[in-house]
Amino acid sequence: MNKNKEFDIIIWGASGFTGRLVAEYLFKKYGINDTIKWAMGGRNQAKLEQVRAEVADDSVPLVIADSKDEASLDQMVQRTKVICTTVGPYAKYGSKLVAACVAHQTDYCDLTGEVQWMRRMIDQHHVSAKANGTKIVHTCGFDSIPSDMGVYFMQKEALAQTGQPAKQIKMRVKAMKGGMSGGTYASLSNVLAEAREDKSIYGVLINPYSLNPKGEDNGPDKRDLQSIVYDKEAKSWIFPFIMAGINTKVVRRSNALAGYPYGKNFRYDEAMMSGDGFKGRLKGTLTALPIGLVMSAKPGTFLKKMIDKRLPKPGEGPSKTTRESGFYNFKFFTRLEDNSLVVGKVTGDMDPGYGSTSKMLAESAICLAKDNIPDVSGVLTPSVAMGDALLKRLQDNAGLTFSFG
Ligand SMILES: NC(=O)c1ccc[n+]([C@@H]2O[C@H](COP(=O)([O-])OP(=O)(O)OC[C@H]3O[C@@H](n4cnc5c(N)ncnc54)[C@H](OP(=O)(O)O)[C@@H]3O)[C@@H](O)[C@H]2O)c1
Repeated sequence: MNKNKEFDIIIWGASGFTGRLVAEYLFKKYGINDTIKWAMGGRNQAKLEQVRAEVADDSVPLVIADSKDEASLDQMVQRTKVICTTVGPYAKYGSKLVAACVAHQTDYCDLTGEVQWMRRMIDQHHVSAKANGTKIVHTCGFDSIPSDMGVYFMQKEALAQTGQPAKQIKMRVKAMKGGMSGGTYASLSNVLAEAREDKSIYGVLINPYSLNPKGEDNGPDKRDLQSIVYDKEAKSWIFPFIMAGINTKVVRRSNALAGYPYGKNFRYDEAMMSGDGFKGRLKGTLTALPIGLVMSAKPGTFLKKMIDKRLPKPGEGPSKTTRESGFYNFKFFTRLEDNSLVVGKVTGDMDPGYGSTSKMLAESAICLAKDNIPDVSGVLTPSVAMGDALLKRLQDNAGLTFSFG
């Protein structure tokens, strides 16, 4: 909801690994108080001042708010059109902020991939946000913009070429290169810990339609891939993609929220490609194994302690060199209504999780604050909230490409 406010955007969590990259990107690309009025937010004044000195200058205003202090959250959200938050794990620190945004009609975007928490936010806030015109948009990073906007793009092209939406899309990760941050690892660990304590959360994680509106949580898709199999269309061995459990649910929610433009029988899945022949099978097995170990390590065990020791701590993440040499390449095997196959593509420059993610999140926040976007509200997905305006921004500014055939 865009009213006259002191700021267009507050980046809350600007002292963290990803928040700092978002602030750096905004400062370098847009300056301050020129096209957008923005501020850096966090809980610790001294830390924010230090990060501001490293990535911007003291013309950038600072806003202090702590997730434990509801009054500070209320005050912060009333000063801005859009809150752009990188304070995670979101299930630990994000719920009161979403509530404050809905109460004060402040639009919101984040980087969460915590499906169980998104389900909670939908249950608690979709109806009131829809009624009062607030846009709450989760998953504005690597999960799930390339998938959600990729399917949005492929379906637009399919419709333009054939007059009908594609009946099935298989997204295959052809290649990607990057690293992981401590915040992302903490968020993943928190999802797994919550699921171990509360079995109903496990149900949310494995139901392909668990982010759909209540009563619409069914369809033709099954659980995400759990093993290594040969994919004839991709002519490659494929194995589980760790983000599939988030992305596929977001794509299905987009379809449902938009009134099923992809059709009620639309099928979608994601996996990683490892190539053909014995080498491809071996590569898939060797890549899937360590991910399986991380996912299965129980809290308090020797294995979990060893993994925790080796992976980054909150505030840490991949180096500038790793970020700048990173990239990703997604293929979209798109089955049209007449059964013909078109292979579309989405690529991103820089590492997926941080270099590219910080640009995608920043452009989403600007899109919410400034662009002519669909008149919809509630707990939304990127494609439903921002559609063509975001597609343009991603291609013009954020280093993504989208192609069909
Ligand atoms: N979807 C994606 O593609 C994607 C990509 C990257 C990251 N992420 C997610 O983004 C989140 C952040 O990751 P990160 O690596 O940037 O984490 P991080 O470096 O640990 O940063 C976390 C931020 O949260 C702040 N914070 C912690 N507790 C707070 C509280 N009680 N009140 C206010 N602020 C508080 C920290 O402030 P201090 O500096 O004061 O400690 C810091 O600014 C994680 O949930 C991660 O999973 C998602």
